[in-house]
Amino acid sequence: MKRTIPGNVDPILAAGDEPLSNASHNAYFGDILEKRLSRRGMLKGSLATVIAGLMATKLPFNSAFAAQGGASSPSMGFQAVPVSTADNVVVPKGYRVQSFIPMGTPVSGDMPAYSLEASGDDQGHQVGSHHDGMHFFPLNDSSTDGLLVLNHEYVEPRFLHAAASGLALDRNGFPQHEDGSRDADQVIKEMNAHGVTVVRVRQGEGGEWEVVEDPHNRRVTAQTAMRLAGPVAETDHVKTQYSPDGTMTRGTLNNCAHGVTPWNTYLAAEENWAGYFANQDTDIDRRQARYGIETRDTGRYQWHRADRDDDMFSRFDASSKGASATDDFRNEPHAFGWMVEIDPMAPEADPIKRTHLGRFAHEGVIFAPAVEGQPVVAYSGDDARFEYIYKFVSSQPYQAATADGSLLDEGTLYVAKFNEDGSGEWLALAPGQHGLTPDNGFTDLADILVNTRSAADFVGATKMDRPEWGAVDPVTGQVYFTLTNNTRREEGDEDPANPRANNNFGHIIRWQEEGTHAGERFEWDLFVVAGDQDDSRDLAGHSLNDENIFCCPDGLWIDPDRRVWIQTDISESVMNTGIFEVFGNNQMLVGDPETGEIKRFLTGPIGQEITGVVTTPDQRTMFVNVQHPGATTTAEDFANGNSVSHWPDGGNAIPRSATLVITREDGGIIGA
Ligand code: FEO
Ligand code: CA
Ligand code: CA
Ligand code: CA
Repeated sequence: MKRTIPGNVDPILAAGDEPLSNASHNAYFGDILEKRLSRRGMLKGSLATVIAGLMATKLPFNSAFAAQGGASSPSMGFQAVPVSTADNVVVPKGYRVQSFIPMGTPVSGDMPAYSLEASGDDQGHQVGSHHDGMHFFPLNDSSTDGLLVLNHEYVEPRFLHAAASGLALDRNGFPQHEDGSRDADQVIKEMNAHGVTVVRVRQGEGGEWEVVEDPHNRRVTAQTAMRLAGPVAETDHVKTQYSPDGTMTRGTLNNCAHGVTPWNTYLAAEENWAGYFANQDTDIDRRQARYGIETRDTGRYQWHRADRDDDMFSRFDASSKGASATDDFRNEPHAFGWMVEIDPMAPEADPIKRTHLGRFAHEGVIFAPAVEGQPVVAYSGDDARFEYIYKFVSSQPYQAATADGSLLDEGTLYVAKFNEDGSGEWLALAPGQHGLTPDNGFTDLADILVNTRSAADFVGATKMDRPEWGAVDPVTGQVYFTLTNNTRREEGDEDPANPRANNNFGHIIRWQEEGTHAGERFEWDLFVVAGDQDDSRDLAGHSLNDENIFCCPDGLWIDPDRRVWIQTDISESVMNTGIFEVFGNNQMLVGDPETGEIKRFLTGPIGQEITGVVTTPDQRTMFVNVQHPGATTTAEDFANGNSVSHWPDGGNAIPRSATLVITREDGGIIGA
């Protein structure tokens, strides 16, 4: 089926979302679905019946994964909260919520206090902005003392700089000089508000959590020196003026979700990094074009146009300017799109980009529970429309005593194909496999990995509706992935795994591997088709109701008791309007993996998304992130000093991303 790709402007995309760039002709499964429908003697209009039929088939129970006795439902004893449009956080009766470590909270150096006047260097010692994926690393197995590690996906410059005050800036805007250049210190502040925060946190006697000054505390930013590892390191793809031998790069960008390795390190994903780069060359090859970089002299925040001559800024212009690749930064974008490993326990160690996990708009990564003597397996989604779901399987077996990040440098990257009959297969993206040969344009493993999307196109992977977070059921081993939405899927392009055209509301898919997580075949079903009361379907085949309507699932986590925590990200470009009005502000819900029952647990303030969730080991404290409150403030309102949200500080304060600390009045397990 030949298709043209429409332009990249789409009102449902949020600030900085990856533009659609998959021009491959891979099956949308429209034809397959048609076949299936005609075989069943149904018309296209009865898609709902097909979905119901699909959802009625329960995934097979694989005894290789589950402890004997099978799996039972987790308790979900709280009272569901209603949808909300208020500028606050609502949790169920009997729960407490505290806002914590808002953007600008000092963590290191001489602990510079938050203020709009704070400098770029100050920001390098403060919690970044746009909190996202997060994990709690206990110290000494404690549930009241540990390192909170969290991503900072991007920034809203208008809420960062005193100089923005009074300017007519929308959520994408930033202060600029008349000639279009940017104040260098503002750029540094924006770079330092990106990245990752490591901060020691402790629960005091009164139950309140507080920041502890500690040698572990650290900011990783868009400037931090990082090592490249795996097959792409030291290849021509990543040689630059900064690193002529291709071993190093600087910074991590757009860190959305995260992962936690079986050896207890943190992985930060690089999601919508492509937009940060300008490139004025007329010929842009697939290493950039397939990721949405086109000929342009603009970048998301125009960092390459800082008013100070320094390659920490100019590297964001990937144009060929020098005599060779080691005389400029034409290869700089090839050092982005990876998963970045950070060891929170080793604050001096360089972060490491693990290139064998593939290069794309990594939403995050989720590891299967590690089994002694078996390969390490990690799943990751590429969050852009019609992109793919991947998994990495290590060559070397996991040995708890010696395991470390080098396990991620050797193995096989696979991409998922979801078949019409509910089966699925993993297609290896490796030299010689499925036609990935030099004759077909894939010279070697490094070439395949730096061009992961093109390789996945070539082998015929299934185009998905924006894969976001994944989670693994600790009892059944079933793997869940959120598919947040895809308004560009047209009628006839539906497939059983992405069953709705103009998919505004998203769904959650899950699968069970055949054999172990390292297997090459699986069976899948849909856990929930999200939406309003008229356009949704739960596992039992019912529509969602007032207690659980939601859309645009994004964050996902399954706790040790198997509660499926679902977080929503209705784009700030459409939230609280039109068909999205019924859902109110973004929210978090809990699902039962056995029955499919879903209940709304939390609603957030105005303009934000809820993203990132983890508990302490005793499950008595939960941390949840609130990202970009106030993002729906118009440029006009901003110019007049008004914001739709003043969360978390209230009054007339500038809204700031922050973490929620949730506990129960009776000290019980969160969600139970
Ligand atoms: Fe950063 Fe795909 O959400
Ligand atoms: Ca978002
Ligand atoms: Ca996300
Ligand atoms: Ca999202």
